[in-house]
Amino acid sequence: MFKKIDNALAYRVYTGGPIINVFSISKDGVFDGMTAAWNCPFDTDELIVVIDKGHTTTQNILDTGKLVLAIPCENNLIDLLKLGSSHGRDNKNKISEVVTEKTANFEYPILKGSLAYFECVLNDKALFADKGICLAKVEHVYVEESLWDDMEDAFVPGCFETLSHVKGVTFSKGGKIIE
Ligand SMILES: Cc1cc2nc3c(=O)[nH]c(=O)nc-3n(C[C@H](O)[C@H](O)[C@H](O)COP(=O)(O)O)c2cc1C
Repeated sequence: MFKKIDNALAYRVYTGGPIINVFSISKDGVFDGMTAAWNCPFDTDELIVVIDKGHTTTQNILDTGKLVLAIPCENNLIDLLKLGSSHGRDNKNKISEVVTEKTANFEYPILKGSLAYFECVLNDKALFADKGICLAKVEHVYVEESLWDDMEDAFVPGCFETLSHVKGVTFSKGGKIIE
Protein backbone atom coordinates (compact mmCIF):
# COMPACT_ATOMS: atom_id res chain seq x y z
CA MET A 1 0.00 0.00 0.00
CA PHE A 2 1.28 3.50 -0.84
CA LYS A 3 1.11 6.46 1.53
CA LYS A 4 0.55 9.97 0.14
CA ILE A 5 2.98 12.59 1.44
CA ASP A 6 3.41 16.34 0.94
CA ASN A 7 4.56 17.27 -2.60
CA ALA A 8 7.21 19.53 -1.09
CA LEU A 9 8.88 16.41 0.29
CA ALA A 10 9.23 14.75 -3.13
CA TYR A 11 12.98 15.47 -3.18
CA ARG A 12 13.46 13.58 0.09
CA VAL A 13 12.02 10.42 -1.45
CA TYR A 14 13.75 10.78 -4.78
CA THR A 15 17.01 11.78 -3.07
CA GLY A 16 19.74 12.52 -5.60
CA GLY A 17 23.10 11.16 -6.50
CA PRO A 18 25.65 10.79 -3.74
CA ILE A 19 26.28 13.92 -1.72
CA ILE A 20 28.99 15.90 -3.50
CA ASN A 21 31.06 19.01 -3.05
CA VAL A 22 31.40 21.66 -5.73
CA PHE A 23 34.66 23.60 -5.80
CA SER A 24 35.18 26.80 -7.77
CA ILE A 25 37.37 29.88 -7.93
CA SER A 26 36.33 33.52 -8.12
CA LYS A 27 37.56 35.83 -10.84
CA ASP A 28 39.83 37.33 -8.13
CA GLY A 29 41.39 33.94 -7.37
CA VAL A 30 39.56 33.00 -4.15
CA PHE A 31 38.64 29.30 -3.91
CA ASP A 32 35.21 28.31 -2.65
CA GLY A 33 33.42 25.05 -1.93
CA MET A 34 29.82 24.05 -1.27
CA THR A 35 27.86 20.84 -0.69
CA ALA A 36 25.18 19.61 -3.08
CA ALA A 37 22.64 16.83 -2.74
CA TRP A 38 20.75 17.58 -5.96
CA ASN A 39 22.86 16.01 -8.66
CA CYS A 40 22.89 13.14 -11.14
CA PRO A 41 24.49 12.02 -14.44
CA PHE A 42 23.22 13.69 -17.63
CA ASP A 43 25.39 11.82 -20.13
CA THR A 44 28.30 9.40 -19.95
CA ASP A 45 30.76 12.26 -19.38
CA GLU A 46 28.42 15.01 -18.26
CA LEU A 47 26.88 15.59 -14.82
CA ILE A 48 24.02 17.79 -13.60
CA VAL A 49 24.12 19.77 -10.37
CA VAL A 50 21.29 22.05 -9.33
CA ILE A 51 22.83 25.11 -7.70
CA ASP A 52 20.96 28.05 -6.21
CA LYS A 53 21.50 31.22 -8.22
CA GLY A 54 22.38 33.14 -5.04
CA HIS A 55 25.34 30.95 -4.12
CA THR A 56 28.89 32.25 -4.47
CA THR A 57 29.66 29.03 -6.35
CA THR A 58 27.19 30.01 -9.08
CA GLN A 59 28.85 33.38 -9.63
CA ASN A 60 32.30 31.76 -9.68
CA ILE A 61 31.29 29.15 -12.25
CA LEU A 62 29.57 31.74 -14.44
CA ASP A 63 32.72 33.90 -14.27
CA THR A 64 35.31 31.17 -14.92
CA GLY A 65 33.42 28.37 -16.70
CA LYS A 66 35.19 25.79 -14.49
CA LEU A 67 34.29 23.64 -11.51
CA VAL A 68 35.43 20.52 -9.69
CA LEU A 69 32.92 18.04 -8.29
CA ALA A 70 34.14 15.66 -5.59
CA ILE A 71 32.50 12.78 -3.73
CA PRO A 72 33.33 13.06 -0.02
CA CYS A 73 33.74 10.16 2.40
CA GLU A 74 32.23 9.65 5.84
CA ASN A 75 35.32 11.17 7.48
CA ASN A 76 34.57 14.40 5.60
CA LEU A 77 31.14 14.77 7.24
CA ILE A 78 31.97 17.75 9.47
CA ASP A 79 33.82 19.53 6.68
CA LEU A 80 31.07 18.96 4.12
CA LEU A 81 28.55 20.46 6.55
CA LYS A 82 30.87 23.46 7.01
CA LEU A 83 31.09 23.96 3.25
CA GLY A 84 27.32 23.73 3.08
CA SER A 85 26.58 26.29 5.78
CA SER A 86 28.21 29.59 4.78
CA HIS A 87 28.64 31.61 1.62
CA GLY A 88 32.09 32.14 0.15
CA ARG A 89 31.35 35.81 -0.39
CA ASP A 90 30.82 36.24 3.38
CA ASN A 91 33.65 33.94 4.45
CA LYS A 92 36.71 34.19 2.23
CA ASN A 93 38.53 31.70 4.53
CA LYS A 94 35.96 28.95 4.00
CA ILE A 95 38.37 26.66 2.16
CA SER A 96 41.19 27.14 4.67
CA GLU A 97 38.81 26.07 7.47
CA VAL A 98 38.51 22.54 6.01
CA VAL A 99 41.17 19.91 5.28
CA THR A 100 41.95 19.79 1.56
CA GLU A 101 44.22 18.36 -1.09
CA LYS A 102 44.71 19.61 -4.67
CA THR A 103 43.32 18.07 -7.85
CA ALA A 104 45.76 16.89 -10.52
CA ASN A 105 45.15 19.31 -13.40
CA PHE A 106 43.00 22.26 -12.30
CA GLU A 107 44.81 22.30 -8.93
CA TYR A 108 41.57 23.12 -7.12
CA PRO A 109 41.24 22.12 -3.45
CA ILE A 110 38.93 19.20 -2.62
CA LEU A 111 38.22 17.61 0.77
CA LYS A 112 41.13 15.36 1.69
CA GLY A 113 40.17 11.69 1.39
CA SER A 114 37.41 12.27 -1.18
CA LEU A 115 36.42 9.05 -2.95
CA ALA A 116 36.59 10.51 -6.48
CA TYR A 117 36.64 13.83 -8.27
CA PHE A 118 35.71 15.32 -11.64
CA GLU A 119 37.44 18.34 -13.18
CA CYS A 120 34.73 19.93 -15.33
CA VAL A 121 33.85 22.84 -17.58
CA LEU A 122 30.45 24.49 -17.67
CA ASN A 123 28.27 23.51 -20.61
CA ASP A 124 25.35 25.82 -21.48
CA LYS A 125 26.05 29.00 -19.53
CA ALA A 126 22.63 30.43 -20.44
CA LEU A 127 20.79 27.44 -18.93
CA PHE A 128 22.80 27.73 -15.72
CA ALA A 129 22.30 31.49 -15.43
CA ASP A 130 18.56 31.15 -16.09
CA LYS A 131 17.59 28.01 -14.16
CA GLY A 132 20.49 27.10 -11.88
CA ILE A 133 20.93 23.84 -13.78
CA CYS A 134 24.66 23.31 -14.08
CA LEU A 135 25.75 20.92 -16.83
CA ALA A 136 29.28 19.93 -15.92
CA LYS A 137 31.23 18.43 -18.81
CA VAL A 138 33.92 16.14 -17.41
CA GLU A 139 37.47 16.89 -18.58
CA HIS A 140 39.22 14.53 -16.15
CA VAL A 141 37.86 12.02 -13.64
CA TYR A 142 39.94 10.45 -10.88
CA VAL A 143 38.88 7.75 -8.46
CA GLU A 144 40.56 6.43 -5.33
CA GLU A 145 42.18 3.35 -6.82
CA SER A 146 41.19 0.91 -4.09
CA LEU A 147 37.52 1.76 -4.77
CA TRP A 148 37.51 0.98 -8.51
CA ASP A 149 37.04 -2.47 -10.08
CA ASP A 150 39.18 -2.54 -13.26
CA MET A 151 37.76 -5.88 -14.41
CA GLU A 152 34.18 -4.59 -14.36
CA ASP A 153 34.91 -0.88 -14.97
CA ALA A 154 32.71 -0.21 -11.97
CA PHE A 155 32.82 1.90 -8.79
CA VAL A 156 32.96 -1.10 -6.49
CA PRO A 157 33.54 -1.02 -3.55
CA GLY A 158 33.32 2.79 -3.84
CA CYS A 159 29.53 2.68 -4.23
CA PHE A 160 29.27 1.33 -0.65
CA GLU A 161 31.19 4.32 0.69
CA THR A 162 29.23 7.24 -0.82
CA LEU A 163 26.89 9.27 1.39
CA SER A 164 23.31 10.05 0.39
CA HIS A 165 21.44 12.94 1.96
CA VAL A 166 18.35 11.96 3.98
CA LYS A 167 17.45 15.24 5.75
CA GLY A 168 19.19 18.01 7.70
CA VAL A 169 22.45 16.54 8.94
CA THR A 170 21.29 12.95 8.42
CA PHE A 171 22.90 10.86 5.66
CA SER A 172 22.88 7.20 4.69
CA LYS A 173 25.82 5.05 3.70
CA GLY A 174 25.64 1.43 2.62
CA GLY A 175 22.15 1.07 4.11
CA LYS A 176 23.07 2.60 7.47
CA ILE A 177 22.15 6.03 8.91
CA ILE A 178 25.11 8.35 9.50
CA GLU A 179 24.72 11.53 11.58
C1 LIG B 1 23.58 18.39 2.96
C2 LIG B 1 23.48 19.64 2.11
C3 LIG B 1 23.01 19.56 0.82
C4 LIG B 1 22.92 20.71 0.00
N1 LIG B 1 22.50 20.59 -1.29
C5 LIG B 1 22.45 21.68 -2.07
C6 LIG B 1 22.11 21.56 -3.46
O1 LIG B 1 21.89 20.47 -4.00
N2 LIG B 1 22.04 22.70 -4.19
C7 LIG B 1 22.28 23.94 -3.64
O2 LIG B 1 22.19 24.96 -4.36
N3 LIG B 1 22.66 24.08 -2.34
C8 LIG B 1 22.75 22.98 -1.56
N4 LIG B 1 23.15 23.09 -0.26
C9 LIG B 1 23.44 24.43 0.29
C10 LIG B 1 24.83 24.96 -0.05
O3 LIG B 1 25.84 23.98 0.10
C11 LIG B 1 25.14 26.15 0.88
O4 LIG B 1 24.16 27.15 0.76
C12 LIG B 1 26.52 26.73 0.68
O5 LIG B 1 26.79 27.52 1.82
C13 LIG B 1 26.67 27.59 -0.57
O6 LIG B 1 27.99 28.09 -0.57
P1 LIG B 1 28.51 29.24 -1.55
O7 LIG B 1 27.56 30.43 -1.41
O8 LIG B 1 29.88 29.58 -1.01
O9 LIG B 1 28.52 28.71 -2.92
C14 LIG B 1 23.28 21.97 0.54
C15 LIG B 1 23.76 22.06 1.86
C16 LIG B 1 23.87 20.90 2.63
C17 LIG B 1 24.41 21.01 4.04
